[in-house]
Amino acid sequence: MQAELRETLLVCPSCRADLEWRGLSTVCEGCAAEYGVSSEVPVLFPVSTDGAPEEVFDDAPPSALDRLPQSLRGPAQAVRHRLQPTLVHQSGHGRRRIGEFVAGLGPDASIVNIGAGRTDYGPNVLNLDVFPAPSVHALATSELLPLRSGSFDGVILEAVLEHVRDADATLEEIRRVLVPGGVALIDVPFLQPYHPSPGDYRRYTEQGLRTRLEQLGFSVVESGVSVGPASAFAWIGSHFLAMLVSGRSNRIYRAARIITDLLFVPFKFADEWLDRHPDATLIASGVWATARAPED
Ligand SMILES: C[S@@+](CC[C@H](N)C(=O)[O-])C[C@H]1O[C@@H](n2cnc3c(N)ncnc32)[C@H](O)[C@@H]1O
Ligand SMILES: [Zn+2]
Repeated sequence: MQAELRETLLVCPSCRADLEWRGLSTVCEGCAAEYGVSSEVPVLFPVSTDGAPEEVFDDAPPSALDRLPQSLRGPAQAVRHRLQPTLVHQSGHGRRRIGEFVAGLGPDASIVNIGAGRTDYGPNVLNLDVFPAPSVHALATSELLPLRSGSFDGVILEAVLEHVRDADATLEEIRRVLVPGGVALIDVPFLQPYHPSPGDYRRYTEQGLRTRLEQLGFSVVESGVSVGPASAFAWIGSHFLAMLVSGRSNRIYRAARIITDLLFVPFKFADEWLDRHPDATLIASGVWATARAPED
């Protein structure tokens, strides 16, 4: 992300005043809060929660990854991504949805991808997350975004709303940073096992997502199934079978998952067509909606 764009779009997450940049670290011109740098990106958590994201999310159970030193977590996560089969299958048209959303807004649109993780949808997309990753431009929490009000044409929130403590605060922040009439693409889980990142707080039906967005002042443009029933079956089925054979042993359960994941992986590919079944929303793994911010 070009320094110029960063300087026009980022503000103090605590008081929303302009920031004075000193390389990658910065000082608020309003409240004088100082923001540092981690993994070569600015850390823009509000001053009240400034510091390690682990402290912000202290009720999340620590995973094996959390117990590693900070410097080893990124590489360990990358290795895990490569070795462990994913039980979620996004069909071709599902995978293209976000690319098409970004392309549809045009090359000059400013877009923010909140909770971007390792995703990167192009040069006009600002990537934020609570943890560093190669394409993340700044560390920030979705509940208090360090972004200028009314300055983004588009927002991407993919597989993030279940992980934030305060979903309404996140959606309200998204409405605040969108230009009038700007559009958010929001993708959330419906039937998925518990998967903390760093916490995991909720699930949505398609109807539930649409209703909450309308209640918060958005108008829903479109919605549907993002990840189909076959992935829901494969992911939950693998957990279930491993649990069934584990005899209540956590250790056997974890070991069995290595086998059951492999057994259930092939089922997920049925989502290449099942995610467009007219009743897919009844047992979908994930649902999505595009929602427009109010025009005034
Ligand atoms: C399941 S991953 C999804 C990553 C990416 N959006 C994707 O679709 O591959 C959830 C991401 O949300 C991030 N996250 C969790 N809580 C957050 C918060 N309060 N604000 C911003 N990002 C958050 C996590 O660090 C993680 O990268
Ligand atoms: Zn400030």
